[in-house]
Amino acid sequence: MSVIKWPGGKTQLLPAIRPLIPNHIKTYCEPFVGGGAVLLDLAPTHAIINDANPELINLYRVVRDNPDDLVAALLQHVNTAEHFYAIRSLDRDPEAWAALSDIDRAARYLFLNKTCFNGLMRVNRHGQINSSFGRYSKPCICPKDSILELHDFLFNSDIDILCGDYTAALDRLDSGDFVYLDPPYAPVSKTANYTSYTSSGFGIDEQIRLANACRDLDRRGVKWLVSNSSVPLIHDLYSNFIIDVVPAKRSINCKGGKRGPVDEVLIRNYSIPNSLSINKKDSSVEAHESASIKLSSLQIYSKYTIGGFSNDR
Ligand SMILES: C[S@@+](CC[C@H](N)C(=O)[O-])C[C@H]1O[C@@H](n2cnc3c(N)ncnc32)[C@H](O)[C@@H]1O
Repeated sequence: MSVIKWPGGKTQLLPAIRPLIPNHIKTYCEPFVGGGAVLLDLAPTHAIINDANPELINLYRVVRDNPDDLVAALLQHVNTAEHFYAIRSLDRDPEAWAALSDIDRAARYLFLNKTCFNGLMRVNRHGQINSSFGRYSKPCICPKDSILELHDFLFNSDIDILCGDYTAALDRLDSGDFVYLDPPYAPVSKTANYTSYTSSGFGIDEQIRLANACRDLDRRGVKWLVSNSSVPLIHDLYSNFIIDVVPAKRSINCKGGKRGPVDEVLIRNYSIPNSLSINKKDSSVEAHESASIKLSSLQIYSKYTIGGFSNDR
């Protein structure tokens, strides 16, 4: 159902994530939605989704509201370097940008995503897309079936689509809701670990702010699952919660900066009855060698059914 290529997407991690999703959820929330791999796999009937990327969120809203116009606009695009760079440059020209409709902007974003190198929607410090042309022979510029399928889901379910910092979405959650948080990952290399800036703009301070937001959700009785890279910083920040380490062979950086096999963590504040542990010993994190699952009685809930259902699990 996903229409967009999203480096950092969670499709490969779905087999590890699915068994950890609570059975009963009032509202599902995904505040770093990106390509929405988990959202679309669960297909909840009540959800709040959010991303800080305005072009991505505009695309979701246009798919929900104007799928046929989006398809028609996409069919105007052609896979040449000249056209790619002309369309890419529109966000450098305030007048041309202001003249674009939401549908034009959504078509532009999806066209650039399908034709740029590896789907990496890099932006410069002004927020302008600076990805290079991918030189693919036959990219699928107009994924009509996926657009219509995603439209059906967004249109027929009760999905609030927000754009902004993740905290606004979290503020709306209550006991019985469940949130899956997939932020830009903490950097893995030793040198990168203790700098406060990363190319995603999500440095150490941001990882700390997010861990604090998770603690606040925990106090409010909201269940959450966080994915991140398996590095000491993340193990330390979430040491009071349940951490499963998952070996993963994928790019860890949403913006595509780093590649290669990287262990990931799935962290949660609730227990799963009768679940098989997917935990593996994390050799890269010496301080946690013998305790990669951390249980805190404070964070384990005995109640599993609170309110309505958003899926049939
Ligand atoms: C790892 S990606 C999410 C990938 C997604 N789970 C998927 O399957 O495609 C992280 C997302 O967080 C968004 N983001 C970064 N900082 C944010 C913030 N402060 N608030 C909300 N979203 C943010 C980025 O735009 C990006 O889409």
